[in-house]
Amino acid sequence: MSRSRLRSALSFPRFAALTTGLTLTLVMLGIYTAATGSGLACSAQWPLCDGGLLPQTIPSFVEWFHRLVAMITGFFILGTALWAWRRPDARTRSAATLAVLLLPLQISIGAVTVTLSGMFPSGYSPPAQGAHLVVALTIFTLLVLTTLYAHEGRFSAPPLALARRALAVGLVALVVSVLFSRVVPVPAYTPAAQAAYYGASLVLFATLVAATRWLGASPSPALRYLSGSAIALVFVGMLLGRDLVYYTPTVRTLNAGLFVAAGVVLAATTWLAGRVDASNGGRGSGVPVD
Ligand code: HEM
Repeated sequence: MSRSRLRSALSFPRFAALTTGLTLTLVMLGIYTAATGSGLACSAQWPLCDGGLLPQTIPSFVEWFHRLVAMITGFFILGTALWAWRRPDARTRSAATLAVLLLPLQISIGAVTVTLSGMFPSGYSPPAQGAHLVVALTIFTLLVLTTLYAHEGRFSAPPLALARRALAVGLVALVVSVLFSRVVPVPAYTPAAQAAYYGASLVLFATLVAATRWLGASPSPALRYLSGSAIALVFVGMLLGRDLVYYTPTVRTLNAGLFVAAGVVLAATTWLAGRVDASNGGRGSGVPVD
């Protein structure tokens, strides 16, 4: 591929989307690391692993690989922020810069998880794990916003039509998320199922953030509130699925209730958005989002 073709293929919106996709993969790897109990596998060392640069066992490899992908993703996040500063839009710059600023915090919490958590019974510290998870989700959200801002004005479809498509993808992601979640015991909640559950939930989360933004163009503000409340329901459900609290039968029921509520809100938003679009003559509302 010639240099000029490579330059035109690698636009900022695509780079931002790639970074967001990488971060999603990294979160899934982190979940897999925690679920396989590999958190302290590098002989509770950081930045070294098993006394050297390379891991010596399979669990160590899992932990080490999460660190390696975190390092690569970190450079991509930094690259996205630097590139964003060459663009005129202040929101893109702010979202990407905030994501970079959170990186040192995330790396420090990761390091604490690897080292100090060894002092807790069975090496498990819910506050450290919870903080690592919440910061990961915040970085992911900021990157989704960066990608959305970067794509502004690049879609040919109007915002309401885009929101309807995002909601439809969200409904599929919700079904996949439920199937791999802890609420449904088949398949078993294995490490791979936990990673798949999170991957689907993050896609759902991202589609809801996108839909909420695009629904700002709708003449009905209720649509945006509905979509926003679905984000909150999905977020709480994602925290519940991560062992931050004991997964008692009551918590399972609560988790199932959150899924049902998110499904109902999502379906209602999709239906209402369809009606608003139809009453607009199916033009998908050309009102700008800003
Ligand atoms: C942008 C950077 C990073 C992201 C987005 C990220 C994300 C995650 C996520 C989502 C988890 C699962 C948490 C859970 O179980 O709920 C995790 C686990 C873990 N991460 Fe990271 N991580 C990052 C960087 C790092 C770094 C630099 C280290 C090491 C120094 C690290 C070490 C760990 C460890 C040891 C676990 C397993 C924790 C456990 O066993 O409970 N992470 N990571």
